Amino acid sequence: MKSRQAERTGPVRYGFLRRPGRAVLRELAELYRAAGWWDRKDTNARLRALVGGSHCFLTARRGGRLVGMGRAIGDGASDAYIQDVFVRPEWRGRGLGAQLVRRLARRLAADGLGWIGLVAVPGAEAFYERCGFRIAPGHKLMLFRGPRP
Ligand SMILES: CC(C)(COP(=O)(O)OP(=O)(O)OC[C@H]1O[C@@H](n2cnc3c(N)ncnc32)[C@H](O)[C@@H]1OP(=O)(O)O)[C@@H](O)C(=O)NCCC(=O)NCCS
Repeated sequence: MKSRQAERTGPVRYGFLRRPGRAVLRELAELYRAAGWWDRKDTNARLRALVGGSHCFLTARRGGRLVGMGRAIGDGASDAYIQDVFVRPEWRGRGLGAQLVRRLARRLAADGLGWIGLVAVPGAEAFYERCGFRIAPGHKLMLFRGPRP
């Protein structure tokens, strides 16, 4: 019997990228642009380094088309952060985002990375809670703005 998740997502194929070729890089760049996470200084070479430098990079395809992605960065031994989780707008609400996060978390746990964190953009907290994450009370995101003058 098909799982509820499979019924909701249909024939979506998930796979971890290792060394993407040019065609896949072009698709990925298009997805990063659609997400608004691509700026003028970004290049396909930079994207290749981003994929290669990630602990793992997961994609979701439907009918051969790239419809979602997510990745994790980490030290390979203990801690990891999930980021760049994105599902094309027309494919949202079908369980793909949750599948991406769950598959990333499962892969990280299997690789021995037991501490898994992420930064939720405003409005995404409930989504990540549905995926098993909890807000860490009192913790604040801090971004480096350069050394004090
Ligand atoms: C956030 C995002 C990845 C969710 O993808 P999705 O495929 O629509 O999510 P799913 O269909 O798997 O939703 C899983 C659950 O989370 C809930 N959910 C999804 N987005 C939500 C939101 N913005 N607010 C509250 N709940 C949400 C769904 O209702 C669903 O609940 P259920 O398990 O009770 O059915 C997608 O909206 C997206 O790409 N957003 C833009 C990029 C982004 O903000 N990424 C997060 C960066 S931190």
